[in-house]
Amino acid sequence: ESYDMGGHDTYMHKEIHEQVDAVDRVLRGRIDDRFATVRLGGLNLDAREARGVRRVKILGCGSAYHTGLIGAQLIEELARIPADAEPASEFRYRNPVVDPDTLYIAVSQSGETYDTLAAVQELKRKGARVLGVVNVVGSAIARETDGGVYVHAGPEVCVVSTKCFTNTAVAFALLALHLGRIRDLSVADGKRIIAGLRRLPEQIAEVLRGEEEIKRLAAEYANAKSMMFIGRVRGYPVAREASLKLKEVSYVHAEAYPASELKHGPLALIEPEVPTVAVLPDDDLLEKNRATLEEIKARSGRILAVAHQEQEKADHTIVVPRNEPELDPILMGVPLQLLAYHTALALGRDIDKPRNLAKSVTVE
Ligand code: G6P
Repeated sequence: ESYDMGGHDTYMHKEIHEQVDAVDRVLRGRIDDRFATVRLGGLNLDAREARGVRRVKILGCGSAYHTGLIGAQLIEELARIPADAEPASEFRYRNPVVDPDTLYIAVSQSGETYDTLAAVQELKRKGARVLGVVNVVGSAIARETDGGVYVHAGPEVCVVSTKCFTNTAVAFALLALHLGRIRDLSVADGKRIIAGLRRLPEQIAEVLRGEEEIKRLAAEYANAKSMMFIGRVRGYPVAREASLKLKEVSYVHAEAYPASELKHGPLALIEPEVPTVAVLPDDDLLEKNRATLEEIKARSGRILAVAHQEQEKADHTIVVPRNEPELDPILMGVPLQLLAYHTALALGRDIDKPRNLAKSVTVE
């Protein structure tokens, strides 16, 4: 893409709409139908090494950290390797135990975030194997890591990340599929995930066609005192990122919680002026999620659901198309980017350059 606005009023809007092509690009040339896997040329990790990985630890900041939360779930689900994500800044300051059988992955749009780069350098100094999931080719983190996966989102100008977030989550799905097929993921499951990945661009386009309705909802919720974002397991990182996005671009206070934790404290905040955005994929936790919606309704809370079907307990539901359950987080984040965008627009914010924020934080 070029740097011009291409008929959009903001880069954020342009970049949200570029996701259809961007996701197509991260998949292009990488799918290997014959073996129901993917080819990742820059990974620099052979099959024997991949089989020796006992844990995966993903490090990043901001939205990149949130894609790491999705990535860790994908790696656990598809490759059955214990995996988790942590803010790179916390990791580097807590004198972590560096384990030779752990595969470390640094994730970054710019590849220049100082905290993430410093974590990589500390890990390398201690002899760890570190891969990068990075957007900007040839950036510092891309150079310092032992190998990795490029995200191919194209240039992202708006300070808040949208297309790079989605593409990074897809890149993690590719990595998880690759590791899974070297380990115990069946051919049938490999084919199922590949088919799901191929459906993503058109399904993103479908979500974007619902923009007018989301714009209307954003106007309705824009005056909230605070917003609560909840989800269970696959829905939770989506809630985290949506909450961050709303805060960054609209300055509306928002919190994200695992839906199951609501009753352990934040339920006290629920009132009509504090609406809840609930991310409810149609997975085996749907019934539990519906019970949480009832608890919120009983406290007069308003609910905006993002789900695969209309939710009776919600005041509004944004219905997203079904994909494979493991890939739900990728698609469910997209309407919430639009919600943040239109909330910010309704409130007259400086969308591409929110106050106090920088696109990449290259100092400590
Ligand atoms: C800054 C930006 C965030 C971004 C984070 C990490 O804080 O405002 O939007 O997610 O840096 O940036 P990176 O380039 O490492 O992904």
